[in-house]
Amino acid sequence: MNLFAKLSILAAAIGISVSASARSLDIRYTATGNALVRPTETAHYLILPVEDDAPDSKIEVLSGGTLVRTLYVRLARRAVDYTVPFDLTPYDGKEVVFNIVIDNLQPHEIEKLVCWPALRMAETFDDANFEKFRPAYHHTPRYGWMNDPNGMFYMDGVWHLCFQYNPYGSKWQNLSWGHSVSRDLVHWTQEPTALEPDGLGYVFSGSAAVDRDNTAGFGVGAVIALYTSAGTSQTQSLAYSTDGGATFKRYGSNPVITTEHEARDPKIFWNERLGRWNLILAHALDREMLIYSSPDLKNWTFESAFGRGYGCQKGVWECPDLFELPVRGTQEKKWVLICNINPGGPFGGSATQYFVGDFDGHRFVCDTNPDETLWMDYGKDHYAAVTWNNAPDNRRTAIAWMSNWEYADAVPTLQYRSANTLPRDLELFRAADGTLRLGAKPAKEVESLRCGKTSFPASALSASPIVRPLPAEADGVCEIELALDFGRARKIDLVLANEAGESVRMTCDVHDAKKKNFTMYRQQSGATDFSLDFPATTVAPIPRAGHKCTLRIFLDRCSIEVFGDDGEFAMTNLVFPASPYTSLALSAEGGAARMERLTVYPLGAAE
Ligand code: FRU
Repeated sequence: MNLFAKLSILAAAIGISVSASARSLDIRYTATGNALVRPTETAHYLILPVEDDAPDSKIEVLSGGTLVRTLYVRLARRAVDYTVPFDLTPYDGKEVVFNIVIDNLQPHEIEKLVCWPALRMAETFDDANFEKFRPAYHHTPRYGWMNDPNGMFYMDGVWHLCFQYNPYGSKWQNLSWGHSVSRDLVHWTQEPTALEPDGLGYVFSGSAAVDRDNTAGFGVGAVIALYTSAGTSQTQSLAYSTDGGATFKRYGSNPVITTEHEARDPKIFWNERLGRWNLILAHALDREMLIYSSPDLKNWTFESAFGRGYGCQKGVWECPDLFELPVRGTQEKKWVLICNINPGGPFGGSATQYFVGDFDGHRFVCDTNPDETLWMDYGKDHYAAVTWNNAPDNRRTAIAWMSNWEYADAVPTLQYRSANTLPRDLELFRAADGTLRLGAKPAKEVESLRCGKTSFPASALSASPIVRPLPAEADGVCEIELALDFGRARKIDLVLANEAGESVRMTCDVHDAKKKNFTMYRQQSGATDFSLDFPATTVAPIPRAGHKCTLRIFLDRCSIEVFGDDGEFAMTNLVFPASPYTSLALSAEGGAARMERLTVYPLGAAE
């Protein structure tokens, strides 16, 4: 007798109700608060109805009597906000039963939930966008939750971008590696999910690299992923792909690294000088990074730890990276250690700090003063930034999750949650005070999105604002390029405004030629009331000396990214305006200033 038949007899014995479904699903409610759902026909998907604020229900997937998957889904109780698909094709020809456990409700209440009539079998899943705020040209998952970028590698002309993914709802859960690919860093296609949870736990963040010399023995050019298995503890596991990243298999002897305390988010890279692999791992609660080396990606030797007492220590240390970068305009090279931290960011919640120093394959020696904290981006929405392995032309290209743990699951979208920042090329530069700083400019591919150009004549700036139009079509997504001369002004104000009376003010403050700040105020930017932590003022120091400043400001449907002075400072903030910002007003305080250049490029959608 099969499992479903056994469970059905048990259900009958303990007095449960049985609903015969006309929708190819047999649903039986048990007296103990479960529902047993059995497809009576084959189809590609079981469509699961989700209510964003409902508590998680546990769904056990049984195939041929064996528990094969456990999912946690916010199954709709009062209203269906959106649906997600569960792929049934791996079970083709096999019996599947879903044992759905609804906590904290009486059996008679369970039967009345709206999810039951909304559960259905389907051959297709409609993932057409229904979100007003879905970015036009930033990477997002088609549906479901996304946090950190993961497993990024470049191979045969393709940029691979995996990400922390919940395919069964738009909040953090069921952590898997989603997978997208692009040939130009701006047009992304989502591929099948690369790694799903296994017996060792959820698939947390990690990295991937191309094993050119077959050091791991999975074949020349195999793609090796190292990630954190987050189950009863956090351990590091290996998966490999022999088809260029299309599919991954797990290594049979996982985990490959275990540590005494919580450690996660391994970043691997080939160290040419060492002739071995290195790995950097966040010793999260100890607020330090652990460095390892290996000849074969499977056997790892602990080398050293870095970070106790360094930089910002106000939150857990996560998502590290370590790479060498040239110093702009010199032959010099230095190493940069990236450390994402949550909370403890300069404006609350999560942010990305970095350290500059030297690395010999064994030990990172930091040049930065331990008391100093350097931020890679001065907005509120730049987290889990890491770089691609193997990028072409010696590029060091980074991408970050464009959100903040303070409110990531409350932002006003439903079908999906969160986008990534624009991809950014990194370089070191020497700031006016002689110190080395990390610069981040939009990857050059971003320029290919420009689909028009309006140049405005240079203009004097005074206390009475000059107002310039921004494109209203295509939801106003555009890039604004500005060259400013502060002249004798103490402050230049830039105000983006829309028809709904919402606005974002940005100011350049000049205390003297050496001390300047760029500030963004998003309190009036649109919807902000979904979180008390969302309305915010963010401030970036402007490192370049002198009276001039250039800005590239990227507007998408729910974000503003500012890059100043060729990427010498960056600021990334989410905004949720009722309608696009369609004007830019410029004014100066405390003396005359000049707008030397203003060019606006409408940007084409990357969909
Ligand atoms: C950072 C992080 C990582 C972890 C992942 C889990 O945002 O907390 O440390 O691997 O998210 O989703």
